[in-house]
Amino acid sequence: MAATRIDGKALAAKLKEEVRAQAEALPRRPGLAVVLVGDDPASRVYVTSKRKDCEECGFYSEEYALPAATTQKQLLDLVGELNGRGDIDGILVQLPLPRGLDEQEVLLAIDPAKDVDCFHPYNVGQLTIGAPVFQPCTPGGVMEMLKEHGIDPAGKRCVVLGRSNIVGKPMALLLLHAHGTVVMCHSKTPDLKELAASADILVSAVGKTGLVTADMVKEGAVVIDVAMNRNEAGKLCGDVCFDEAAEKASYITPVPGGVGPMTRAMLMKNTLTAAKLHQGVK
Ligand code: GUN
Repeated sequence: MAATRIDGKALAAKLKEEVRAQAEALPRRPGLAVVLVGDDPASRVYVTSKRKDCEECGFYSEEYALPAATTQKQLLDLVGELNGRGDIDGILVQLPLPRGLDEQEVLLAIDPAKDVDCFHPYNVGQLTIGAPVFQPCTPGGVMEMLKEHGIDPAGKRCVVLGRSNIVGKPMALLLLHAHGTVVMCHSKTPDLKELAASADILVSAVGKTGLVTADMVKEGAVVIDVAMNRNEAGKLCGDVCFDEAAEKASYITPVPGGVGPMTRAMLMKNTLTAAKLHQGVK
């Protein structure tokens, strides 16, 4: 079977267009502040694309590029200032932070009503009980892709590779809330290959090029590749050996052009949600 390629770029463009139309109808335009500490080149690229997304959606955006030597107090002071701003609806502190800064303390300092990443323990708790205010961006983007293609996780075996706070854990929760039977695999899982091969929906979020080979893909499975790796040639790639997996899958996401653009679109959707919340609009 040759798989259908899920076009994240096209779906993200559609989502952003919907967000733009709703943002236009608000009394005040949504505002997003993006904070980048240090000079990680990959993070720099993400931040630049977020600015572009904001422009496309008609949002106000601010960018803070702080030196790697920024202290915990300076960062907390900035977050505190942004929490108090009436024109800023969402605050995103780009992770990972440089060594020496306490990530958890910073995430805890962000006003939960401005936590468009859905990283604050309050929002993680709301998500866990099935009453999320914001959608975690990457897993939320994956759910949108499944919905767009009429793929219902209910009753399906969903296998998630990776257990990060950003992707693996919230992905498992969203699939569980959609009535999937969820198995989480990680670096200490002995039978990861067999479990992956049993999946109706396989989500890989490990960050290891070539991890998912054809023998780990069940005939007709849906394969979602969340990873953003660079191969030896410096080319962007995911965890999945795309060509061989596509021979067996029913649906598959490419890297680039798959989950990545959806993550960014979900951030825009969350910023719109925050703006509605702050302006008392349903
Ligand atoms: N670093 C990698 N992915 C993300 C993300 O979704 N949000 C933030 N804040 N940092 C990240």
